Amino acid sequence: MNKTVLLYEGKAKKLYKTEDEAVVWVEYCDQATALNGARKEEIAGKGALNNQITSLIFEKLNAEGLETHFIEKLSKTEQLNKKVSIIPLEVVLRNVVAGSFAKRFGLEEGIVLQEPIVEFYYKDDALDDPFINDEHVRFLNIATYAEIEFLKRETRKINEILKKIWAEIGLTLVDFKLEFGRLADGRIILADEISPDTSRLWSADGKHMDKDVFRRNIGDLIETYTEVLTLLEKTK
Ligand code: TMP
Repeated sequence: MNKTVLLYEGKAKKLYKTEDEAVVWVEYCDQATALNGARKEEIAGKGALNNQITSLIFEKLNAEGLETHFIEKLSKTEQLNKKVSIIPLEVVLRNVVAGSFAKRFGLEEGIVLQEPIVEFYYKDDALDDPFINDEHVRFLNIATYAEIEFLKRETRKINEILKKIWAEIGLTLVDFKLEFGRLADGRIILADEISPDTSRLWSADGKHMDKDVFRRNIGDLIETYTEVLTLLEKTK
């Protein structure tokens, strides 16, 4: 299979068509952004780390019988995915208070939530990805109520699998962001990436093993992500 024309260029990825209408070729890039793109930096090696970490996680999710967009890793920076139409929602699940949730409710980071909380953000850079509720999702015609319930159920199910995967390498899954997409037949499956860019991962000794090292200038992103990948590879 070969990549053909460029379909889409995002903040951290390029998507190409292939000879197969149902398959896209994804290349992970080295750009790191924070503050919804207002801060941008090229960090050599970041794309390769995220592609390898995401590929390992999606292989594990596929092996658990979950239907995802992931087909195979092609190289350190490339993978093949099923083509989907992305639902413009960032679906965030929180196990522990951190980040914007701590800010919004004036809480200390680190409080364990009794029940995981699922939130929706509307994917729209011009609007700064606003926090929205189920009725806004309906109003914007993004998904039906049945689909909204499916997204929440599926995200909670994925949380249970991810918590185990990260716990195996000694990390607590604090929160994460998922994106879902529709296949040509309308079915909704998990898409995008799962990496330290899109998840908060805390070590037992309180280290941030995720993009917060970049967002908060508290550590080296490449060193941190390399440690995560090295640990994950041992669980293959
Ligand atoms: P938040 O606390 O900033 O709302 O982030 C919650 C989780 O979602 C965190 O693990 C980082 C992830 N996330 C993304 O992957 N992309 C985004 O644009 C944002 C805002 C958060």
